[in-house]
Amino acid sequence: MWCASPSTILALGLILVTLVSQCYANNQLYVGYYRGKCWQYNVEEIIFNVVKAKYAKDPTIVAGLIRLQFHDCIVRGCDASVLLDGPKTEKTAKPNQSLKGFYVIDAAKEAVERICPGVVSCADVLTIAARSAVFLAGGRWYYVETGRRDGFISSRSEALANLPSEHITTRDAIQLFASRGLSKEDFVVLLGGHSVGTTHCDKFSSRLYNFHNTGKPDVRMNSGMLYALRRMCPRKSGSNNIVYFKNAPTGHYQIDNAYYKQLLVNQGLLEVDQNIGSSPLTNSIVKKLAYVPGYFDKKFGQSMVKMGRIGVITGKQGEIRKYCGAINHYKH
Ligand code: HEM
Repeated sequence: MWCASPSTILALGLILVTLVSQCYANNQLYVGYYRGKCWQYNVEEIIFNVVKAKYAKDPTIVAGLIRLQFHDCIVRGCDASVLLDGPKTEKTAKPNQSLKGFYVIDAAKEAVERICPGVVSCADVLTIAARSAVFLAGGRWYYVETGRRDGFISSRSEALANLPSEHITTRDAIQLFASRGLSKEDFVVLLGGHSVGTTHCDKFSSRLYNFHNTGKPDVRMNSGMLYALRRMCPRKSGSNNIVYFKNAPTGHYQIDNAYYKQLLVNQGLLEVDQNIGSSPLTNSIVKKLAYVPGYFDKKFGQSMVKMGRIGVITGKQGEIRKYCGAINHYKH
């Protein structure tokens, strides 16, 4: 028979406690958190159905929801801070003024609130809605972790300080994502969110006319594309037109790896996009995503799940908001 000394038992005990506490920490967010928490209802299905119904009327919301999750998570973590209304909240920061899809989150939250009030956080509604959007846009289904709680704070200045500019260098962007626990590959994969939706002329017009104060366009830009974009975004026009990220005539709201193929022929729209195609730090990842069949489809969901872990509030912290635009009560 094997007999352990007291010191061995103590050591084993310590290992067990460490393992259990680590499991607890990792298990605070997990797949299927709402199973059995909302009677017999499937929270994720309810949210999916709301998104699907809205999508049927307006397919552009898929891009809005995917972007919304990024803008929430990169500023103070995935705590639904981007959803809060108020005079100086994140929503009021310039880069957030073009965010779309808030009404979809409100409708989804209302639908779950009707069935089981005070159970599902807005941060989770957003995560589940973004996954629904990826799937509706033709992306692969992925399992989302849930169990987030909602935060109390939302600040315009924090949003301005943390949201990256479209002119960010690849090196700085890699560093920014690393500071949020995301790898270089996660960054390149997540930027594939730019395979859907639109941007405005003012976000890339310097690339057309005066790149980095050279008085010339960005030499990397494909000449046919430069010509077409200059027509869409005339230098002296007071308008700020909308341009699709994807330059193929179809599939503007189809999430796929066409974005990376575009970068490899110098047809990236924003500077941040073309940078990852050109930079030796990321070019090989871009090639892999462009050429290896199914690689982007598989990776995008995985990186969205990783992004969904940034700075989450779990356990007894935070709250479950009743309405995503306002906190229930102030905490001092
Ligand atoms: C360094 C990182 C990033 C920068 C600098 C950036 C910048 C931008 C800019 C400037 C726009 C256009 C805004 C406008 O003109 O209205 C945009 C749109 C968009 N971004 Fe990003 N982005 C980044 C990362 C991401 C990530 C990680 C995702 C998602 C995973 C994402 C998803 C989107 C989507 C879907 C749109 C289109 C939104 C729509 O059509 O409503 N972006 N981004």
